[in-house]
Amino acid sequence: MLHFPYMVDWNLTSRVAGVQVPNWCAHMTVAEKIVPSGWLQISIRADPSALDDIANFLIQRGSPGVVVKKREIQGYFAQGADALGVKGDARRYLRSIKKVYPGMRDDAVRWRYLKDRNWNKAWQRFFKPQKIGRQFLVCPPWLEPPPLGKRRLITIEPGLAFGTGTHATTRGCMEFIEKAGALLRGGKFDALDVGTGSGILSIALIKIGAKKVWAIDNDPVALKVARQNLIANGAAQKVRLSGARLNQIRRLFSLVAANLTAETIMALDDGLAKRVAPGGCLILSGILQHKAGGIRRHFVASGFELVGRKREREWVTLLLRRR
Ligand SMILES: C[S@@+](CC[C@H](N)C(=O)[O-])C[C@H]1O[C@@H](n2cnc3c(N)ncnc32)[C@H](O)[C@@H]1O
Repeated sequence: MLHFPYMVDWNLTSRVAGVQVPNWCAHMTVAEKIVPSGWLQISIRADPSALDDIANFLIQRGSPGVVVKKREIQGYFAQGADALGVKGDARRYLRSIKKVYPGMRDDAVRWRYLKDRNWNKAWQRFFKPQKIGRQFLVCPPWLEPPPLGKRRLITIEPGLAFGTGTHATTRGCMEFIEKAGALLRGGKFDALDVGTGSGILSIALIKIGAKKVWAIDNDPVALKVARQNLIANGAAQKVRLSGARLNQIRRLFSLVAANLTAETIMALDDGLAKRVAPGGCLILSGILQHKAGGIRRHFVASGFELVGRKREREWVTLLLRRR
């Protein structure tokens, strides 16, 4: 199974190719980040109880995803960037967790170089069309989508920016976008997507009938990727995409969606609250379960009521409505 869990603190990384790229390769060009010449694969045999912790380490260290098998986990690192550094860090990390997982053996680690083409093929196999909520079907561009029925198709090129539909927080937002659309009586409305990533939420908003969406992101790579996805989905004309900061936007919106982190949401709290029109909806996600209560209380005290709460694994998504 391929995981893109980003259980790590997003603030430690900026997300580019395949969900997360660590800050240590921030100096690389976009092309280098997206198309590395090859990959260094690490395979670690470990007790299943240790796999979540090891997955966190690999992703935090820059692996764009991890492949989890029964008693083994694999991570991938762009070849040439920092191979020796990665190997040293992995050795130190595995030595350090031996105290917690004494079963870890010294010969549990294997390294191997993969050609880019092999990786790309292997990686594509893990993306399948996904039904999200009752209205959406997200499909990568290289697959023929299954019959849609009443669902709306969203085509997303995975692996270029955050927001492929595989993550609990994106799915939570999309399900609440459906619900908010119903609360807004399916009428035409304007929406704001804060931290658009791949553009997936903006596309979902347009597909359920938003008149216009303002989409912002502070990562130039995400903006580039979002633009491509908006075009691929015929949504570019209706989405105003930019690197504007939230405090530069002055309008009110019937729906504001922000899939960030608990910390970023709290840092932007006033800006988010003020952009929601009376009676409008605010979707907040990227919140670890133990931080959700504090965020809910904060926004309820600022004039919102809680309309919905979804939890998947450790991630919570909130749907709030301005009184
Ligand atoms: C977890 S991703 C969400 C992507 C997509 N909206 C989704 O739901 O899958 C968060 C995005 O927010 C962006 N971001 C983080 N802090 C931000 C800020 N203060 N202002 C604008 N964008 C921000 C990141 O660059 C990233 O693309």
